Amino acid sequence: MSDTISVNGKLQPLPTDPRTSLLDFLRHDLGLTGTKKGCDHGQCGACTVIVNGIRINSCLTLAAMHDGDEVTTIEGLGTPDNPSALQKAFLEHDGFQCGYCTPGQICSATAMLQEIANNWPSDASETLEGDMTATGEEIRERMSGNLCRCGAYANIVAAIREVAGESA
Ligand code: FES
Ligand code: FES
Repeated sequence: MSDTISVNGKLQPLPTDPRTSLLDFLRHDLGLTGTKKGCDHGQCGACTVIVNGIRINSCLTLAAMHDGDEVTTIEGLGTPDNPSALQKAFLEHDGFQCGYCTPGQICSATAMLQEIANNWPSDASETLEGDMTATGEEIRERMSGNLCRCGAYANIVAAIREVAGESA
């Protein structure tokens, strides 16, 4: 037990209150408000962050359960001056309107593209083995946990496909 958690490459002490969700820890304790609280019940994906390379809903897990883990939030993916490829593509493709769901969409898409690169199948995959490609169908299935109240889905898929190297 180290009682620390790495957030965007910086070691942080875990919260003293063991009931603190990872989402509240990031937003309230660390001031990383890019990660959004939508439903707080695991239903919208607005709170998605990447833990040890895997995307999770930070509202559904306690910070204390992540002793020694590496967390990446939207702030850790890029900055306005130096955006990640997906952040840039979302801008170029108008992948957002109000922007509330966008950090969760981008964190989710970042890890999701890695899942495809790892050839992990989804419900939309025709086989369980072999090379996976970022088709529109695969992206829609794999991103189905990230809701957008503004309905920017078509542009979100186009942005992700561009980064995946598929034609939009
Ligand atoms: S706030 Fe976590 S899934 Fe909605
Ligand atoms: S851009 Fe508004 S909720 Fe998705």
